[in-house]
Amino acid sequence: MAETLRSARILARPVTNADIRAVAGIYGGNRDLLVLLDREHDPLVLSRRFTQGLNLPQSAPSARLHNFLLCDVRTEQPLGLLSLCMGYPAGDVAYIGELFLHPSFQGAGLGREICLRLEQVLRPGPAKTLRVGVGLRNWNALRFWVKLGFTHVTGMSGDRHFSPHGHAFIELEKNL
Ligand SMILES: CC(C)(COP(=O)(O)OP(=O)(O)OC[C@H]1O[C@@H](n2cnc3c(N)ncnc32)[C@H](O)[C@@H]1OP(=O)(O)O)[C@@H](O)C(=O)NCCC(=O)NCCS
Repeated sequence: MAETLRSARILARPVTNADIRAVAGIYGGNRDLLVLLDREHDPLVLSRRFTQGLNLPQSAPSARLHNFLLCDVRTEQPLGLLSLCMGYPAGDVAYIGELFLHPSFQGAGLGREICLRLEQVLRPGPAKTLRVGVGLRNWNALRFWVKLGFTHVTGMSGDRHFSPHGHAFIELEKNL
């Protein structure tokens, strides 16, 4: 997996501790959505996890986690963040743990652009499929991923009992 990814408008580079304010701004801009996605939805807690590489799925070795800050390729202005875990949960799977754009940059094709670039970079292998976990109440993202071809359901999880504050996830996959 390359250190950086570059598309027409985006430079995805490894995040550092110095990026914590930018990362907090991206999570903070999505605050209303975060509440729907998980019990932990404090932008500062999530930002620390992201910049320190502590946002690993359980049992995934840390060497395979890549946390990127997505920046404007010309101005280097932060646009969003992307987390990718290689070889999780199996050797031939790459897992998008998180993809968040700041609301100011949503709906302009940037999400699609970075995903298509990522697929291109991953295609030589070893990953044969790309997976993503999506909150079931995140209907905009569900539409986004399905449009990108993530149509194979590989898992579902969620709170056993319904409640207004419950959480549930679906895991979607596409072939590379
Ligand atoms: C989801 C997200 C990454 C998509 O990136 P984006 O740049 O906004 O999406 P794009 O402009 O590339 O849109 C690609 C397609 O997804 C669909 N889509 C994107 N945002 C949508 C929205 N708010 N409502 C409905 N459809 C949407 C569109 O149909 C679009 O296809 P079209 O151009 O043919 O109409 C981005 O909106 C985001 O960061 N959202 C908040 C965080 C989030 O939900 N992340 C995903 C967690 S799994």
